[in-house]
Order: sequence, then C-alpha cells, then structure tokens
Amino acid sequence: MQSVTAPSSPHDLPDDLDAVLADVWQRLGRAAKDRRAAMHTPVVATILQDGAPSQRVMVLRAFDRASATLRFHTDARAAKTEQVGAGSPVSVLCYDPGAKRQFRLTGTARIETDTPAADQAWAEATLFAKRCYLADPAPGTVSDIPVSGLAADIEGRKPEDEAEVAPGRPNFALLMAQIDTVEFLHLAHTGHRRAIFRKSADGSWQGQCLVP
Ligand SMILES: Cc1cc2nc3c(=O)[nH]c(=O)nc-3n(C[C@H](O)[C@H](O)[C@H](O)COP(=O)(O)O)c2cc1C
Repeated sequence: MQSVTAPSSPHDLPDDLDAVLADVWQRLGRAAKDRRAAMHTPVVATILQDGAPSQRVMVLRAFDRASATLRFHTDARAAKTEQVGAGSPVSVLCYDPGAKRQFRLTGTARIETDTPAADQAWAEATLFAKRCYLADPAPGTVSDIPVSGLAADIEGRKPEDEAEVAPGRPNFALLMAQIDTVEFLHLAHTGHRRAIFRKSADGSWQGQCLVP
C-alpha cells in the first residue's frame, strides 16, 4: 500500500495504510471497553423518513473486528429504531482530541430485539443500565412537566434485582452498525493526513491516501 508519511515528517502515524487501518480497529476495540476513551461516545447518524439527517451521541458497547460491526444499545421504542429497522444507511463519527484523530465510519445499520446477541447483551447489562428501559411512556413522548419517564418508586435508586428490571427487556434493542467504509483523518500542524478504506466484495479492505 501507499505510504502515508513523508520521510521527514515527525508524525507518530504508522507508515503504511495497512498499519493505519490496524490502528483504527485497535482504537475502536479500546473505545468499546474503556468508558474514559474519547471514542467511547461517538455520534451515530441515521436518516429520517423524509430524508433529513438525524444524529445522536451513543455509547459504543462492542466492536467486532471480523465483521467490522459496532454494537450500541437503545430503546426499541426510540425514534432511531424506526428509522433503522431491518437495515438502513448509518454513519458513525468518532473523534479523539488527544490523539487528534477523527474516524468517519459508514455502512448499514440494523435493529435486533429478539436475537441471541440481544439476549446476551441484556444479561450482561447492569441493573442501572436496565432501569432505563422501564421508562413509561416511551422515550420521546411529550410531557407537560420535566420527567425521567421512570416510575417514582424506582427513580433515584438502584433496582434491587433482575425481577425488578425484567419488564424493561421488551424495550431493549441493539443497534448494529456494519461498517464498509472508514475515513481516517489525523490533524497535525506539520500537515494533516487523510485516508479512506473501503471493504471489497471479498472482505478485504483497500485503502487510498486523500488530500486532507
Ligand atoms: C453521553 C451520552 C450517551 C448516550 N448514550 C446513548 C445510548 O447508548 N443509547 C441511546 O439510545 N441513547 C443514548 N444517548 C441519548 C441519545 O443521544 C438520544 O438523545 C436518544 O437516544 C434519543 O434519540 P432518538 O430520538 O434519535 O432515538 C446518549 C446521550 C449522551 C449525551
């Protein structure tokens, strides 16, 4: 592959595109595990029925390198689940100010509610996380007063056990974003660096340098 660093450049970037892509995967894997990582809370963009863009911050829960899939958790009644459904375009924007790196990931999203993966994610979620899915009425419902959506007897405290949060399970969903394009940008006063990687039909990734 092409080199991404000029020989005299003081960048701490890997020196070929394969290594740059490996760095992207490594950072996404770390971001999913480390809640202090800047890329732990990327912006996830979907498209409204009228074609308008719709964005929101979400917690990155897992990243699977083999399928290049990011996993997010959401409420099955949320607006975004209706937009995504069984499959629709998605863009995930990650920025780490410390590393001065932006990843613009695009691909296809799908919602899963009753799959083994959804069951496993629910089983692994904390009681506090599961409490979010007890909101009634659904997220996005108009209210005359400021509300959390939670019943007064559980608002402000940790649920006692699984039985208490079990009614939230039907409202729990995975948003799976399968990535087929990665755009990489590294900022540096010595000169920025940008590259794009596309997944081929055979599953391999092809990269090209871009002018930033
Ligand atoms: C730091 C942060 C983390 C968030 N994490 C999630 C999340 O993991 N899942 C989620 O559905 N919403 C999350 N939200 C809320 C969303 O940004 C959004 O407001 C909400 O999901 C409603 O979006 P929608 O109407 O497009 O469905 C988070 C917001 C912030 C500020």
